[in-house]
Amino acid sequence: MKTLFITGITGSIGTQALDVLNTLNDSINLIGGSVNSNWRKLKIIIEKYGLKYAALAKPSNEVPNFYKGCKIFKGDNSTENAIEKANADISLIATSGAAGLAHTIQASKYSKRIALANKESLVLGGDLILNLFKKNGNELIPVDSEHSAIFQLVLGENSIDEIYLTASGGSLRDKQPFELKNITKEQVLNHPTWSMGKRITVDSASMVNKILEVIEAYYLFNTNKIKIFINRNSHIHSMVKFKDGVIKMHFGKPNMKVPIAYAFTYPDRLYEYEIPDIINTEINFEEPDIQKYPVLKNLDRILGNHSLHIALNASDEVAVDYFLKGNIKYLDINKTINYVINEIEKKQINIKNFQDIFNLDNECRKIAEEFIKEEL
Ligand SMILES: NC(=O)c1ccc[n+]([C@@H]2O[C@H](COP(=O)([O-])OP(=O)(O)OC[C@H]3O[C@@H](n4cnc5c(N)ncnc54)[C@H](OP(=O)(O)O)[C@@H]3O)[C@@H](O)[C@H]2O)c1
Repeated sequence: MKTLFITGITGSIGTQALDVLNTLNDSINLIGGSVNSNWRKLKIIIEKYGLKYAALAKPSNEVPNFYKGCKIFKGDNSTENAIEKANADISLIATSGAAGLAHTIQASKYSKRIALANKESLVLGGDLILNLFKKNGNELIPVDSEHSAIFQLVLGENSIDEIYLTASGGSLRDKQPFELKNITKEQVLNHPTWSMGKRITVDSASMVNKILEVIEAYYLFNTNKIKIFINRNSHIHSMVKFKDGVIKMHFGKPNMKVPIAYAFTYPDRLYEYEIPDIINTEINFEEPDIQKYPVLKNLDRILGNHSLHIALNASDEVAVDYFLKGNIKYLDINKTINYVINEIEKKQINIKNFQDIFNLDNECRKIAEEFIKEEL
């Protein structure tokens, strides 16, 4: 039986991973998990799954050091400490945001298999994280549905020509560009096909999520030939075009439990889920309208420039947080991203190690905060 640690165990991916485990008939033993602050939910998970190690980055005073036989780590580096003690065969990195990078670095030391949902680990970590995986002999299995699909499509292939990443178009796909000015938080959070955490739902509406995924694919599959197409019903999870004109598509119902389970059980498929209706399901694609998704104007400029990958992610994380708290408007997210990217591009920063990444991430957050407070 394999052991498993889940970072971000109370989140959207974490919760769906628990659902998957319930169906895998004890072939995987969950021994640890970490969260930011949600003790109420973590406590229930400890009780139900008998965790041995848990961690909270921002615990309240009521959180004990031990609970029902589970050692609780608290504060900065708590997830890293729990990962070390748990020493699990598989780590699912489902933390939201840039905080996930440190968790992935630590998991690389202790877990053979990294099931990677946290896209920021690749966006920020780039080649440095891939080299770390190589050095530590990790098996990297992507969990993001598009990348899981591509991972499966390229198995046994060695002449990929181009990747077509699919997108749902997000919650604002039927709005006209002029309507974006007064879009509310509620409208943005109402995603048509996927149920996800708040930041990724906002990022799906703006297509920042898709840019992060293009960067993720750039590192994972070693190509910059990547196009984005909207597939409204999210049944095509991505496509790969080969030199002989063949395009392979990954077709299935949209549900994150499928790629999560695949990352746990690869190369087997032990998880059972609904079969899509191949007669009545439409397969249509649209090119994204750049007026509706203005952030896409930055894609060519950003892709392959490590410091701009970091700038995009940090500025978006800060701006989305302000937007979700009702402090800036929807289109201000794009303004903040543009400003931070311009500032960082001027500096021509060369990233040499993980500390450079953490420093630049912090610097970008400060620039974003200042811009929002002074200019918006
Ligand atoms: N949701 C999806 O369908 C989906 C699909 C593909 C990829 N992803 C990627 O998966 C990651 C997680 O997304 P999500 O939608 O599941 O996010 P989410 O619902 O917002 O959950 C985030 C989880 O991370 C925990 N967390 C946040 N900061 C932490 C820290 N510093 N230390 C430890 N734990 C921390 C949160 O704990 P609290 O509960 O205490 O806040 C929560 O458990 C993201 O990178 C996202 O892009 C998600």
